[in-house]
Amino acid sequence: MAKSSASYVCQSCGAATAKWAGKCESCGGWNTIVEEGAAPPLGSGATRRSKGRRFPLEDLKTEDAPPPRRVTGVAEFDRVTGGGLVAGSALLVGGDPGIGKSTLILQALGEYAKAGGHAVYISGEEAMGQVRMRAARMGLSAAPLMLGAATCVEDILATIEAGHPPGIVAIDSIQTLWTGALDAAPGTIAQVRTASFDLVRYAKASGAALILVGHVTKDGQIAGPKQVEHLVDAVLYFEGERGHHFRVLRAVKNRFGATDEIGVFEMTGKGLAEVANPSALFLGDRASAAPGTAVFAGLEGTRPLLCEIQALVSPTSYGTPRRAVVGWDTGRLAMILAVLDAHCGLGSGAGVGIGASDVYLNIAGGLKIGEPAADLAAAVALVSSFGGEPLPRDSVFFGEISLSGDIRPVPQAESRLKEAAKLGFKSAFVPKGTRVEAAGLSLTEIASVADLLRFGPQAGSRPVRRATIES
Ligand code: TYD
Ligand code: MG
Repeated sequence: MAKSSASYVCQSCGAATAKWAGKCESCGGWNTIVEEGAAPPLGSGATRRSKGRRFPLEDLKTEDAPPPRRVTGVAEFDRVTGGGLVAGSALLVGGDPGIGKSTLILQALGEYAKAGGHAVYISGEEAMGQVRMRAARMGLSAAPLMLGAATCVEDILATIEAGHPPGIVAIDSIQTLWTGALDAAPGTIAQVRTASFDLVRYAKASGAALILVGHVTKDGQIAGPKQVEHLVDAVLYFEGERGHHFRVLRAVKNRFGATDEIGVFEMTGKGLAEVANPSALFLGDRASAAPGTAVFAGLEGTRPLLCEIQALVSPTSYGTPRRAVVGWDTGRLAMILAVLDAHCGLGSGAGVGIGASDVYLNIAGGLKIGEPAADLAAAVALVSSFGGEPLPRDSVFFGEISLSGDIRPVPQAESRLKEAAKLGFKSAFVPKGTRVEAAGLSLTEIASVADLLRFGPQAGSRPVRRATIES
């Protein structure tokens, strides 16, 4: 009989070896190799399977009503979850320590309880007194919320299973959980996964909506939310810059709603305040028009969002020019600079070109932008800073830039323009071919990046190197 092959498999990359080792030779991971039952070689005839049980296959038609939702009453939170928490589902809220996860969850549960729901909040990090003090600060002392401090999963499950079934259970945080079934220390991958799995199973069986809070850890010392992302139905990240007051709740996975939906909050002395009109917040009070700032009419999920893109181009004092980006993609900045260089001639000619200058790009307010539609606003901010000419103060920009220098249309131009008009902007620079009704806005179509020179260094003073590949 043929000898069966290796039975030690790396859990990270799947490489199989004949011997156990501390380090996987294939992916370099440490302690990832685990003994698995030896699989008989394929086609050896040794795979005698037991006879399977049949199960019915069905079509996609459904008579079931949509699953019931538990609406918390914190509108920004409900929007990001897709209209409330689904009964029996599990939601993971991740974020850096101190960003406000506990505050957000306490607020959502407090409001839910105030509206008559049965909510249980289990804190593994803070003592009951600390949670009560926080609730008092947030004006939630009177909310009929059930509070507990525990870290052992068996205890938590025994407690919630004994009482009246809760509508929402929140566990803060998964990193403090442990189960007696394992020897490993709390916070290890095995503990976090097993404990979370038990809680998710409880939620599915009982119909309670489960919220798990998880800290994102940079050094991987304790297992982060990534380890349980596959177990849960929805993953939300709570983000923000420490120096800024506002926080963004972003859906990255949602089996019951749209992803890339965001909720915007402001951290105040009395907990989180919902920001119904984020554009006004991100634009803040814009000072007098300065070169290098452009307003981008963006979109986050289904929601238009205006924000300011700031660029600074200055002569470099280093051998290699510096590039620093906050809130945007470094690779995308490099691409825009290359396109400006190739199609606007800003990288060459007399004096220091844009390619040989230090370039800093910042999204005001600490917002993060992932949309390619921001290309045009970033490019025009760069051109304006380079030329030292302020942009028209009451204008917004959007459009995607292709490598050929063309400006491509972007989705949902109409809602972007509506938001801009609502906030008092008078004109918009949009990709060529954007055919929309824009009440109260004058539209200027931009076909290629070469058209941006009108905002740049005294039009025509620099030689324009035309593209070698004409489309
Ligand atoms: P917290 O919710 O404890 O963060 P996490 O659970 O993500 O670790 O939030 C902690 C920060 O929020 C802390 O620095 C204080 C601040 N905060 C306020 O500014 N106002 C408030 O009303 C509350 C409750 C917290
Ligand atoms: Mg906390």
